[in-house]
Amino acid sequence: MPRQILVTAALPYANGHIHLGHLVEYIQTDIWVRFQKLRGNRCIYLCADDTHGTAIMIRARQEGRSEEVLIADMQAAHERDFAAFDIAFDNYGSTNSPENRQLCGEIWQSIRAAGLVRAADVSQLYDPVAGTFLADRFVKGTCPKCGAADQYGDSCDKCGSTYSPADLINPTSTLSGTSPEVRSAAHLFIELEKLHAFLDTWTQSGNHLQPEIANYLKGHFLGEPLRDWDVSRPAPYFGFEIPDSPGNYWYVWFDAPIGYMASLRQWCDKTGEKFESWWPREGTINESAQPPTSNLQPPTSPEVHHFIGKDITYFHTLFWPGMLKTAGYQLPEKVHIHGFLTVNGEKMSKSKGTFVRAATYLNHLDPSFLRYYYASKLTPRVDDLDMNLEEFVAKGNADLVGKVVNLASRCAGFVKTTGLSARYPDDGGLFAHAAAEGEAIAAAYEECDYNRAMRLIMALADRANPFVEENAPWNLKKDPAQAARLQEVCTVALNLFRQLAVYLAPVLPRLAQQAGELFDRPITKWTDASEPLVDVPVRPFQHMLKRVTPEEVQKMIEESREEAAATTPAGLPLAPPVPSDTAQQDSAAALAAEPLTSECSIDDFAKVDLRVARILSAEDVPEARKLLKLTVSLGGDVKRTVFAGIKAAYQPEQLVGRLVIIVANLAPRQMKFGLSEGMVCASGPGGAEVYLLSPDNGAVPGQRVH
Ligand code: MSP
Ligand code: ZN
Repeated sequence: MPRQILVTAALPYANGHIHLGHLVEYIQTDIWVRFQKLRGNRCIYLCADDTHGTAIMIRARQEGRSEEVLIADMQAAHERDFAAFDIAFDNYGSTNSPENRQLCGEIWQSIRAAGLVRAADVSQLYDPVAGTFLADRFVKGTCPKCGAADQYGDSCDKCGSTYSPADLINPTSTLSGTSPEVRSAAHLFIELEKLHAFLDTWTQSGNHLQPEIANYLKGHFLGEPLRDWDVSRPAPYFGFEIPDSPGNYWYVWFDAPIGYMASLRQWCDKTGEKFESWWPREGTINESAQPPTSNLQPPTSPEVHHFIGKDITYFHTLFWPGMLKTAGYQLPEKVHIHGFLTVNGEKMSKSKGTFVRAATYLNHLDPSFLRYYYASKLTPRVDDLDMNLEEFVAKGNADLVGKVVNLASRCAGFVKTTGLSARYPDDGGLFAHAAAEGEAIAAAYEECDYNRAMRLIMALADRANPFVEENAPWNLKKDPAQAARLQEVCTVALNLFRQLAVYLAPVLPRLAQQAGELFDRPITKWTDASEPLVDVPVRPFQHMLKRVTPEEVQKMIEESREEAAATTPAGLPLAPPVPSDTAQQDSAAALAAEPLTSECSIDDFAKVDLRVARILSAEDVPEARKLLKLTVSLGGDVKRTVFAGIKAAYQPEQLVGRLVIIVANLAPRQMKFGLSEGMVCASGPGGAEVYLLSPDNGAVPGQRVH
């Protein structure tokens, strides 16, 4: 009986791009789903963008666009990145969807009905200029414990103490630079302690969590009363307004996991499947309110599996099961938790160029190599995993190119006219051995022990390659009398290759696709590895995987470093909110918006030496993704070289002769491509949307701008 399995990965935040750290999770999950499908189970992979919250609201304002436009752009970018890494969702939704709003309302009703909601006043810092309450990370000030300056609102970098933002000495809002005031507002809380007994049982039995996670929860949270969970935020907040509490919004972490269900609802609407048969209701805590549903349950009970990173454990192992239980939904069969990615043994770092976006990786490297490398590192444990860049190159080349693809590339050409032998030859038991290993490999995938699965598969490759070496088809080829033997040797080698391609199919779907095309027999199920192919034609061999070079990796790191340097640090001017209904597609509204910045005296302003300049020459910097090199005249013989991040918006030829405004007294900056001696003024969010500022006709190079 095939299992019915609903799988989710955490919903990525809409306020940032997908990077290599995220990909650990989306690839880990994709492998598991592809494995289940290959085994013949019914399995769906659901995800969505996580769109709500203060950070998105602030970012939208900084960029002068509506939240809706911002999240739509980001979702398109996320989906592009995922697709390029062969991460195949059955549905990709958004938490800002009508389906999610509806489900949030229903679940909220159940939680209210169960008597778990109470109201209480919360004092929070409020920025009167930006017109918003301030989340901890938007407040900075002096640490109340040790006196260190410039610390965030929740904890001190210097002494490690934690506190509430209101305790900071001289707090300032990072949004406007003003000093915030304390304001009180009513918040709604879920009384989690009332679910304590249930959570004890659910987390500690039934194998729903990895043992180290169950122990962590027992030691850290469940040993004492659970604190009430603050699930509302007062306006302004980008999210869903709580229907029975006008002016208050559900906190992003309330509606985010419900987004899993909203994505299921969309998938069901698309496919005609029934929501209840994938995520059944089991009866609520308040049993009498719900009719019994057990007799409506389908014959196999569906399973829900969540994959998440360790940083969001609390939400998925306490809050979320608590919400599901209260609303009467089936609980997850398992929450699979992975550790964090480090690169070369350290946290990903922007300045070192190891904070690599998915899109940047793709400019230089093949996604299959990352999928394989992560697979080789992933275990069922919560440990962090390290991407050692040297090992990444060596392992991909040695295993994938050297051991797997080589089996096919060295043999396929010799049988392109004859096809495979009519009967499977004696191979000394190689094929049968590898077929017998199928269940052990499957068990490793099932347990998320991909590291073990990869080792088992590579051990098979290590047996297959000596067979080819010893039988040296390239020598047999030279002797016409050996034609039959040549065909046999290649039949064995290509079948052993195909077996590996089946076992690797969850990790390397492209390789499996190509292996299918080579014999015109698509790989569709795990048992394709148990019977050899005979008497089939062999198509011309198509190139499968190219070796990775350390230079390509180096280029990716350099581009990441450059990108990080080019991104404006926090502290962009903050525009007031753009009303979402009027500003849908309209960045003109952004231009009309008056930016709100901290004040600057006329003396401060006078320090900035803005000058009219004429562009004398403009050249592409081929190694840089965004930069053009400009030589400008400031009148007379005064010339400057300036690197400007405007490549995506302007052709160099267009620029020659044009007047621009430059910051002439900026301290020169040594860049990888040369010394930059100023900055060209432009507006716009960046990329292709950059607009150079120019004076009207009549202005003269060298003139000061007041
Ligand atoms: N929006 C929340 C999840 C809501 S789920 C209802 C969130 N988003 S996130 O974009 O910050 O992270 C998405 C997932 O990627 C999380 O599971 C997180 O643990 C994982 N990772 C983010 N950075 C990571 C690494 N550096 N390494 C491994 N996984 C990482 O959290
Ligand atoms: Zn301190």
